[in-house]
Amino acid sequence: MPACEVKSADTRGLAGQTVGDTSVCSVNQTQLIYRGYEIADLAANATFEEVAFLLLAGHKPSADELAEFDQALKDNRSVESSILDVIERIAVEPADVHPMSILRTGISMVSHLDPECEDNSADAEYRKSIRLMAKIPTLIGACQAPRDGRSRVEPDASLSHAANLLWMLTGKKPESIATKVMDVSLILYAEHDFNASTFTSRVIASTNSDMHSAVCGGIGALKGNLHGGANEAAMDMLADIMNDTSDSSMTVEEWMQNAFNEKRKLMGFGHRVYKNGDHRAGILREWGLKYCEEVEPDKKVWFDLGDEVQGIMHREKDIHPNVDFPCGMTYFTLGIPVPQYTPIFVASRITGWCAHIMEQHANNRIIRPLAQYAGPDLMSWCDS
Ligand code: ACO
Repeated sequence: MPACEVKSADTRGLAGQTVGDTSVCSVNQTQLIYRGYEIADLAANATFEEVAFLLLAGHKPSADELAEFDQALKDNRSVESSILDVIERIAVEPADVHPMSILRTGISMVSHLDPECEDNSADAEYRKSIRLMAKIPTLIGACQAPRDGRSRVEPDASLSHAANLLWMLTGKKPESIATKVMDVSLILYAEHDFNASTFTSRVIASTNSDMHSAVCGGIGALKGNLHGGANEAAMDMLADIMNDTSDSSMTVEEWMQNAFNEKRKLMGFGHRVYKNGDHRAGILREWGLKYCEEVEPDKKVWFDLGDEVQGIMHREKDIHPNVDFPCGMTYFTLGIPVPQYTPIFVASRITGWCAHIMEQHANNRIIRPLAQYAGPDLMSWCDS
């Protein structure tokens, strides 16, 4: 369409626009497909390491390929102590800096010590993807440990990626069901075609900038509460509802009606693509609830409240939960501090971002769309 033609549909935010090709992922109303494999199939039958290999290498791994990939991840988990020292310091001074900002800074520091930082060749980018994926749990742990008053723990090569992430985050070796729930959540969060953070990463990569810079941009885009930050915002919202309704002075129905009257967005609901529901949400709710019933039955009140909120939202607005809604309850039940929910999303989505950055660099043309001008008519500087 020519730049000067006025469009009637609301295409703000590029709504409904197809802006490029990808072989990494396909999304439609009923399916989310990573390189030919549907998400429910992957969540039921694959591990996060297998899914990460699928996304980064482009095919399902053989047993040997998986073993090599897994070993490379384990070999690259450590982060230079000079970097961890900085993370630990900025995690507590000031104490309210968001962990996503700290993680963004951590990736930036890691880039300076990556020997292939400026090498955008396919082989170097594959190796950098593994290093980034391996180190992110270590950076997340270095932020959380001092906030909990704990000393940093070393990555544990006997643990899977999901279990090591929980170990770094909490300083406790997780039970197998906690590891499974985390693993499934990482699979569900790994990739989603041209979502805002992936698109941001691709725009940065398209200028021939490097992978670490593109990932820092992705973290910045994911942080917002309309995107990845919604998993924290959803849990905060549920905590507000629980608090405001606890003394029976207000019902959940009334809380929701107030939100509708004030035209507030309910966090963890709605989706740009899925209009009849995000099927990742059902998968994660099932695993979160299973963990809750088996390990933390007292926390089931959160799932009950979530179901009530979800029911009212559906009845009144016909809007469904997205994956961030059950994620909030699930990570809460796992005992993870709320501000670390979105960094965990990074620990997963790093795979999708890196796959897209590699795809962009393999067939690059700078991403530079046009804008529809809506400013004043042409004026003379001297006459006005
Ligand atoms: N709460 C209340 N109303 C909503 C919500 C919501 N969560 N989501 C959409 N709506 C309303 C909109 O206000 C709009 O109403 P209107 O027509 O009266 O203006 C209508 O539903 C249609 O909205 P969309 O055009 O579908 O919204 P859009 O595609 O622009 O935004 C988004 C999608 C950002 C996800 C939005 O639904 C939202 O803000 N949700 C809450 C934040 C959230 O959960 N984000 C996570 C997304 S998933 C992810 O990133 C992993």
